[in-house]
Amino acid sequence: MKEQLIARFKEVFNKNYTKAYFTPGRVNLIGEHVDYNGGCVFPCGLTIGTYAIVRLREDNKIRLFSENFKESGILEFTLEKLIKENKWTDYPLGELKTFLDEGYKIDNGFDILFFGNIPNGAGLSSSASLEVLTGFILKSLFSLDIEMIEIVKLSQKAENLFVGVDCGIMDQFAVGMAKKDKAILLDCNTLDYRYVTLKLDNHSILIANTNKRRGLADSAYNERRNECDTALAELQTKLDIKSLGELSIEKFEENKNLIKDEIRQKRAKHAVYENARTERAVKALSQNNLKEFGLLMNESHISLRDDYEVTGLYLDAMVEALWEEEGVVGARMTGAGFGGCTVSIVEDKFIDQIIKNVGKKYTEKTGLTGKFYKVKIGEGAREI
Ligand code: GLA
Repeated sequence: MKEQLIARFKEVFNKNYTKAYFTPGRVNLIGEHVDYNGGCVFPCGLTIGTYAIVRLREDNKIRLFSENFKESGILEFTLEKLIKENKWTDYPLGELKTFLDEGYKIDNGFDILFFGNIPNGAGLSSSASLEVLTGFILKSLFSLDIEMIEIVKLSQKAENLFVGVDCGIMDQFAVGMAKKDKAILLDCNTLDYRYVTLKLDNHSILIANTNKRRGLADSAYNERRNECDTALAELQTKLDIKSLGELSIEKFEENKNLIKDEIRQKRAKHAVYENARTERAVKALSQNNLKEFGLLMNESHISLRDDYEVTGLYLDAMVEALWEEEGVVGARMTGAGFGGCTVSIVEDKFIDQIIKNVGKKYTEKTGLTGKFYKVKIGEGAREI
């Protein structure tokens, strides 16, 4: 892949490259819509992701080209003029702008050829991958004194302020810090984390893309976030807490009537229960209890469907078809929802049969063709 992209760089920019980089996509196993509520998440990096072939320039031009959007050609900006255009360039430009605003010394332009093999807009963090990748390139090209955790935080800031999605920190953290064959248990309140080996003996992680684009996801995402913030403020009239993630299930149940609206109560319930589920799921995994882990994945989907209401017809059709199959230990939507992908743990010997049956049922129900990926767990951002 690298050699091919280097040759493309030469063709597109008519120059030799200086360096090459890669950042993965991520899949979240459990702990959905809890990162911005101060809870625990459990994502892992993938071996698919975003590549960048880069050359440092002597002037102040920023020239970007994506193999995924070839028809747009080379898009040109300058260090002084980084404009949001509501397209893929917002991610690298937003990252660069955030670094500049923070005072990092970046005084030359550069050419980048990008290529991503993560399906975009599918809940596998193609955007975070592009943001963190750009941050990593800036660190490397300009020898910036910045740790990965800081790149992660600036990437989230770029998405919040430049792109305009009020996301939590999970995706940027996962793609920056991922480790081969490990998932990351991340407490989004404290940013404490630990790697957990995924011992799946005879099982695999299967991702199914509904091929239903997320559509209005960004505005609905911000709406969910606001509902949770309001619910938190209502709970804070009595409770001394900084986030929903600090609440046990019992404490939530005792105090939920402080939340004056039924919908907001359901949103907060999801956040609190999902957080507890994540801890239980990680514990089950450490006890080699994959069955329990799978059941918790299923419960997570139900909560996202009924209480958080971010699944919808396509994700539900895919997950329901998965639940009916022999060899599926657990299945749920992953990422922001409203479309995109599901994640499941499946027994290897049934995998072909599962893909065949689920694919058929999904198409019958929705008219769309799903795509299935048996994924491997890969490393975080790096030079290649
Ligand atoms: C998106 C956001 C994350 C997280 C998930 C839902 O992927 O970028 O911060 O909130 O949705 O868990």
